Amino acid sequence: MTRQVAGHMDKAADNMRAPQGRASPALAIRRLGKNFEALRAVSDIDLEIGRGERHAILGPNGAGKTTLFNLVTGDLLPSSGTILLDGRDVTRLPTHLRIRSGLRRTYQKSLLFGSLTVEKNLFLAVSGVRGRRQALFPGRADKSLYEEAHRCAEQVYLTDMLDKTVDNLSYGQQRQLEIGMALVGEPHLLLFDEPAAGLSPTERTHLTDLLEQLPRDLSIGLIEHDLDIALKVADRVTIMQDGRILASGTPAEIVADEAVQRIYTGESHHG
Ligand SMILES: Nc1ncnc2c1ncn2[C@@H]1O[C@H](COP(=O)(O)OP(=O)(O)O)[C@@H](O)[C@H]1O
Ligand SMILES: [Mg+2]
Repeated sequence: MTRQVAGHMDKAADNMRAPQGRASPALAIRRLGKNFEALRAVSDIDLEIGRGERHAILGPNGAGKTTLFNLVTGDLLPSSGTILLDGRDVTRLPTHLRIRSGLRRTYQKSLLFGSLTVEKNLFLAVSGVRGRRQALFPGRADKSLYEEAHRCAEQVYLTDMLDKTVDNLSYGQQRQLEIGMALVGEPHLLLFDEPAAGLSPTERTHLTDLLEQLPRDLSIGLIEHDLDIALKVADRVTIMQDGRILASGTPAEIVADEAVQRIYTGESHHG
C-alpha cells in the first residue's frame, strides 16, 4: 500500500527499516570530519552507540558536540567520513529519511510553539512524523494522532499540563516537552543536545530521573555539560575537545582517566 501510493523516497526509508544483522550498532561513525573553512570543528571521529546504549558526550564549549549531532541528523553534510544508522550508510541521505528510519533529536535552542498548548505541540510533532500516511484517513487519523500525543506526554510526566500553553510552563517542563516531542513515532535513536542546560538543581534531578526511565530499548546520545548527570545516565561516556575525542569509556573508566580529571577536577562542571 505504502509503496504504491508513495514514491521511491518512501521505499528507501522502508529499506532502511529492514532488519539488519544483530551486530549493527544503532549509530556508527567512521573517521568523520567537518570543516568550516579553516576551522576543523569535527576531526577524524570514530564513535559507536550500541542498540539500547546510553552514550553521553561531554566537552567544553566549541568542542564540536553539536556539529557532530548535526552531521548525524543530516542538518550538516560532513567534509569526510561515514555515518551508519543500524548498519545502513546514511552519510548523504536527507534528514527526513533519517527521521523516518527512527532518528530523533532535540536542539540546544527550543523549537516549541510558545502560544500553543502542550497537546497541540505534541500533536503537530506526531502529524509531522505520521501525517503523510495517516492523511489518507482524516477523521480516524486525528484520534490516533492525539492518542499518541497523550502517550508521549505521559512519558515525560506532562499529562496534567496538556491544556496549558507552552509559555505557561516552567523552563524545566519546556525541556521535558522537547524530549516528549522526540518520542513520537517509533524512535530508535534519540539525540539530546544539552537537555539540562539552564535548569535548577531540582529540575536537573527531575530530568535525570526522566532520562533514566526512558524505555531501555532506545539508543540515546546525550550531550551534557554536567559530568554527574552524564555518569549517572550513561553506559558509556565520550569526552570531546577541539573536534577530537579525548577519552571514551564506561563511567568508571572515565572517572579514573587522568586527562579527564585534569579538565573536570576543581572546576565547575557547567562550563
Ligand atoms: N555553522 C557553522 N559555521 C561556522 N562555524 C561553526 C558552525 N557551527 C559550529 N561552528 C564552529 O564549530 C566549532 C564547534 O561548535 P559546536 O559544534 O557548536 O560546539 P559545542 O556544541 O561542542 O559547543 C565552534 O568553534 C563553532 O564556532
Ligand atoms: Mg553545542
